[in-house]
Amino acid sequence: MTHGPSSSAAAFDFDNPPSDPVASCLAWLEEAKQQAIPNPNAMTLATIDANGQPSARIMLMRGFDARGAVYFTNFESRKGLAMRSNPRVSLLFFWDIMNRQIRIEGAISRIDDTESDAYFAQRPRESQINAWASAQSQPIASRAALEARQAQFAEKFANAPVPRPPHWGGTRVALERVEIWQGHPFRLHDRVLYTQIPASTPPSWRVERLCP
Ligand SMILES: Cc1cc2nc3c(=O)[nH]c(=O)nc-3n(C[C@H](O)[C@H](O)[C@H](O)COP(=O)(O)O)c2cc1C
Repeated sequence: MTHGPSSSAAAFDFDNPPSDPVASCLAWLEEAKQQAIPNPNAMTLATIDANGQPSARIMLMRGFDARGAVYFTNFESRKGLAMRSNPRVSLLFFWDIMNRQIRIEGAISRIDDTESDAYFAQRPRESQINAWASAQSQPIASRAALEARQAQFAEKFANAPVPRPPHWGGTRVALERVEIWQGHPFRLHDRVLYTQIPASTPPSWRVERLCP
């Protein structure tokens, strides 16, 4: 079993946790980036659709601060439609190599168009074209059909900047519930739960240690 680096400057004190989870989450993300693992910013995003059916998928987290965690996707995808009827989601980071997880739950909101534009503008041109080519989560007949759509949009935007598709952009998940978890031998894990106090500005949280 592996354990988190307890001597690190960013060590989280579960018996005396900070009043705010944001810096601790950022510190753990930073430590994850220093590990020899692909996609340290990968997280599971769980949504619930209009029929009450949960679904989950991996996403890459592209921004994190007191306002929440940000990812980018197609608003017309399966997850996009689910979030339209149920604008509450759950995120889960798991870093096996550090025996850690962070769980986040909260309401979603779209980030500003200007922020989505700025993020889209610095993506590789191929990814920009493919954001147009892929009707994410819709059926398509074949790989050849997908590549034909890619070629069609490559031609449409030839010799010009690729604009951000209106159906693509960033979503922010509010940090209403944040649980920081460190694994230990024989299941005596450490857990601290932050529950955001509604309408607190700047946000403040109730902080509780949980049994493992
Ligand atoms: C490592 C990894 C990172 C991913 N990152 C994203 C992402 O940032 N945005 C996205 O829309 N899909 C991402 N995907 C694809 C999603 O997991 C998913 O297949 C896609 O968003 C369609 O999901 P949906 O049909 O439930 O809407 C990623 C997949 C993997 C394995």
